[in-house]
Amino acid sequence: MTDSETGRLSVSLVDVTAGREGEFLALAREFGAALAAKGYGTAEIVRDEAVASRFYAVRRWTSAAAAERCHADADVQSLIARLYQMARVTHVVNGVRRPDALRLLLDERRTRVEADRRTGFDRRTRDLGRAEGDRRGGRDRRLGPRRLRDRPGEIDLVAAARRAREHADAAYSRFKVGAALEGADGTVFTGCNVENATYGLTICAERVAMFKALSEGHRAFTRIAIVADTDAPTPPCGACRQVLWEFGGNLEIVLANLRAEHGRHRLRDLLPLPFDARLI
Ligand code: THU
Repeated sequence: MTDSETGRLSVSLVDVTAGREGEFLALAREFGAALAAKGYGTAEIVRDEAVASRFYAVRRWTSAAAAERCHADADVQSLIARLYQMARVTHVVNGVRRPDALRLLLDERRTRVEADRRTGFDRRTRDLGRAEGDRRGGRDRRLGPRRLRDRPGEIDLVAAARRAREHADAAYSRFKVGAALEGADGTVFTGCNVENATYGLTICAERVAMFKALSEGHRAFTRIAIVADTDAPTPPCGACRQVLWEFGGNLEIVLANLRAEHGRHRLRDLLPLPFDARLI
């Protein structure tokens, strides 16, 4: 990541405490002036037409490095501390990635390629798990690392869910599940199921992923991948469908096992007559 890289954008949703809108707008002007004066970028506030105390804070960074400097700047931090006194801030688009090039490169590699952990024997003889069988007609087939990005430009959510599944704590059911939820800005939140001796306190992989994302201020999502080690697809349970609908809307649901994808669905189809806030 270099200083010459431009056009980075961050957008936050700012829900201002009722009655403090004027104070917020004054603070936002101060924030914008500081960003411009220090050469970090520009800041703009857009008022939500539908929700009186809601604003969108749009920052256009001069470069990723400038954004990093801005976040580390004590003056800016004190402005942000004042902002948090009067508003709830939800990060919607984070246009700034960590500037650590090696880390980014490793992350990229992790999402694109998953090592084939099967033994040579399994690689040769096992079907790849496609519903219709091996497309090469069951012939002997050796695999190296599999490239798992299934559509150009897509983050490999299934690979992320498979890795998350390895952390599952399924001491009672032995049924390990992994999930990976994609935020609208491309951030991936993973989850696994975590069981409890009281059974009822068990939480599914999907809800762990969603609650992690919500707790970090993300509110917009596109897809979730769910992985279990079964031949039949493992769709989300009823409770997870309800939670995913509430916070993710009509998400794309990608089902897969350890070897292959098992199909894609829309949450609306899995939860056709939902109960939600519109009915209250
Ligand atoms: N489980 C999930 O994590 N996600 C699903 O979609 C189905 C079920 C977990 C809950 C429990 O720990 C185990 O799988 C068996 O039900």
